[in-house]
Amino acid sequence: MNDESRSTKFLKDYAPPDYLIKDVSLDVTLAPKGARIASLLSIEPNSSTVAGTPLVLDGDALRLESIALNGDDLEANRYTVTPGKLTITNPPVGPFTLDIVTLCDPEANTELSGLYLSNGTYCTQCEPEGFRRITYFVDRPDVLATYTVRIEADRETAPVLLSNGNPVESGAIEGTGRHYAVWHDPHPKPSYLFALVGGNLASIHDSFTTASGREVALGIYVEPGKEDRCDWAMESLKRAMRWDEERFGLEYDLDVFNIVAVSDFNMGAMENKGLNIFNDKLVLARPDTASDADYTSIESVIAHEYFHNWTGNRVTCRDWFQLCLKEGLTVFRDQEFTGDVRMGPVMRILTARLLKARQFPEDAGPLSHPVRPASYIEINNFYTATVYEKGAELCRMLQTLLGQDAFRNGIALYFERHDGEAATVENFVNAMADASGRDLSQFMRWYTQAGTPEIACSLDYDPHAKTARLRVNQVVPPTPGQGSKEPMHIPLKVGLIGANGDELPLKLKGELVPDGLLEVTEREQVFEFEDIPAPPTPSILRDFSAPVRVTTSLKPEQIEFLMIHDSDPFNRWQAAQTYATDLIASARGTGSTSARSARPRPAALRKAWSRPCATETLAPTYRAETLKLPSESDIARELGRNVDTDAILTARDTLRTNVSAAMADTLSEIYDTTATDGAFSPDPDSAGLRALRNAALDLMSATGTDEATDRALRHYRDATNMTDAITALSILSQIPSAARDEALADFYARWQDDPLVLDKWFAVQARAARPDSVETVHELLSHPKFSLKNPNRVRALIGSFAMANPSGFNRADGAGYRFLADQALKIDGFNPHVAARLLGAFESWKTLEPRRQALARAALQDLARQELSTDAYEIVTKTLG
Ligand code: PHE
Ligand code: ZN
Repeated sequence: MNDESRSTKFLKDYAPPDYLIKDVSLDVTLAPKGARIASLLSIEPNSSTVAGTPLVLDGDALRLESIALNGDDLEANRYTVTPGKLTITNPPVGPFTLDIVTLCDPEANTELSGLYLSNGTYCTQCEPEGFRRITYFVDRPDVLATYTVRIEADRETAPVLLSNGNPVESGAIEGTGRHYAVWHDPHPKPSYLFALVGGNLASIHDSFTTASGREVALGIYVEPGKEDRCDWAMESLKRAMRWDEERFGLEYDLDVFNIVAVSDFNMGAMENKGLNIFNDKLVLARPDTASDADYTSIESVIAHEYFHNWTGNRVTCRDWFQLCLKEGLTVFRDQEFTGDVRMGPVMRILTARLLKARQFPEDAGPLSHPVRPASYIEINNFYTATVYEKGAELCRMLQTLLGQDAFRNGIALYFERHDGEAATVENFVNAMADASGRDLSQFMRWYTQAGTPEIACSLDYDPHAKTARLRVNQVVPPTPGQGSKEPMHIPLKVGLIGANGDELPLKLKGELVPDGLLEVTEREQVFEFEDIPAPPTPSILRDFSAPVRVTTSLKPEQIEFLMIHDSDPFNRWQAAQTYATDLIASARGTGSTSARSARPRPAALRKAWSRPCATETLAPTYRAETLKLPSESDIARELGRNVDTDAILTARDTLRTNVSAAMADTLSEIYDTTATDGAFSPDPDSAGLRALRNAALDLMSATGTDEATDRALRHYRDATNMTDAITALSILSQIPSAARDEALADFYARWQDDPLVLDKWFAVQARAARPDSVETVHELLSHPKFSLKNPNRVRALIGSFAMANPSGFNRADGAGYRFLADQALKIDGFNPHVAARLLGAFESWKTLEPRRQALARAALQDLARQELSTDAYEIVTKTLG
């Protein structure tokens, strides 16, 4: 490791590149040991570059074979090779070319960054800094070049050769058993969007005609034998292409669009121009192997990567501090897509829940950073929930403030101004401001101030004046490196509900408030609503209109009232969550000081829950969501301090059992009436029915009776699709019993040769809240089908345990912390990126009760004393704080 890699990089130090690379011609010869890359670069100095400024190229894990300038071999005294760099000391004044030949070793590439082998397939991953592991280059996103790529490989083992752009030619190399293919990408792109693939892959093909009549050939490439699991991804791709034309007027711009699924991949997927490379988990689906949740995430990630073609590729990021420019915007776009084609109003519940579960804890802990970070040590550590999910919320808030039409115009203006360029967050927000005529200077603080704003609301009713005064206070809490904050510009959607459940019109100074949208810009603001005949119940932060925490002074009866009457589907769901969270958090032992009990009378529970979950006019998907009680982590987050995960588990189980008993009749009626027969279909309505039925089954099982276990086992045996099977298996895995053993053994026997499905088997066991789950997970590490080298296996077993089994990971004796630290350290030795992600599980350690806190700190300190990668070093030291 060189010292530079551990240094902090700052946004304020940004300087344009000294040299631009305009065109790249790569000649790649694939062989397991020592792939050979010959690169021809057309280089010119940037306009302000002083003559004689050295040209510094990035390179990592490369062997330099030769280097020539303008066609002549470069003498040894004209360049230097140091760790991470190749420096040309005195380059010519005008444009020039470099010919560079390097070797790299795909087989030894365990980091899965650069050129590597996944199950015998050559593939690449270049974002953010992987291209420098393929060849020497100015590896930063503001250097945009056109690429021509020739790939040569063994014909038998690598019949498929793909790269970015359009195919130019291909053919056999006579008498050698080898062949080649040439690809050309006419769109200038940064190096992180480069990709190539070579392997023995099966494929399915289709085509799409764009709105303006361009015929696009679509292909999905997978390991042979898996072609029967590609149809859903293909349909999803075509839906996404159409949606982007209709919603944003954005068309595809090449003759081909290819997707390749590989089984070893650090992340979810990658938007390389014209050649997306996917973790196969996010491509492959068949009714018996993939659950509805898998179908949904495949559809949304296929869309996400496709949408990057405009937001990310046509307009890219100037530097990695601007990562949210492409990721936040693209997540926002995929959320809108999934809402439109699949989830409807339930989408907002899902996105808000994800944000609260993943981003709120990040923002409240030692790793908190702004949506646009001002500094980093390792950029790989900044593919975070803050950049992605909160970044998406910022785009959504802009849309809310400007309206959908002005937002779309803003997007259009952004492309008009910056197509083919590398842009900044300022460029984006300026386009929005100019297209709408709005001043967004205060809004910019969302990009620079970290921390989740806290909004306190109180409502006073004046019976004489017939006014309701809503007082709103906002505080942005301090975060590491940011002690004091300025007030934010917050779109706050509200409603007032009359005693009979009617929506009251909102009038401020004689004017109706459209959509109930208030704009909060000051630390304290009062909104006085007129003509309110009687004391109303406020519904605050409707549609989760901003990524903030809200506190209100609502009484439990008012929350129950909202559970029934709020016309805003998001807040009606939120009311039920708040109601349950309050009950659980106030139970003895959870650390709350509130005296309320977790054992309310059954009649009260029945009254509170039956309306939202039993009303048949509500969409089944929505009803399913109301049957899911807040998770243990949700409760821990609400408590925010002195967290005892065992006490939370117990209190939550108690409430679940009570709700289950109180609702028994309703639940079994739902369960019986939602049974479907006939062939599986992944369409939203069928998926909704399965979701409702499975949510009912899950809640029914909370009683833990033999009857409940039998029902779950029957559900498992009768399952004709993965959604039902995995729900039953997950329920059973929590209950030590013959039924559990039978189901786990059956599942294993059926799927032992199917790694992706077997990951579900590892994951359900890792997630099961059992006193011995550390031991279970430890044992599964040595299961013959497990491998630390494969990121999906690691996430299924170790990741599920650390992120989705709070009582197991936070076991009172610290065994969970030590387990994670040990495994992360091992993985860090060959794949730092995956290791650093796992260590994110420690992000909330400071909210734990003192004993657990001490044990977590000890595990982290122990790690800090080891030899760590830059990635792990940054996470461990910052987490310790
Ligand atoms: N850019 C990818 C996305 O769409 C994520 C990714 C980042 C993949 C880094 C691989 C490496 O979100
Ligand atoms: Zn993305």
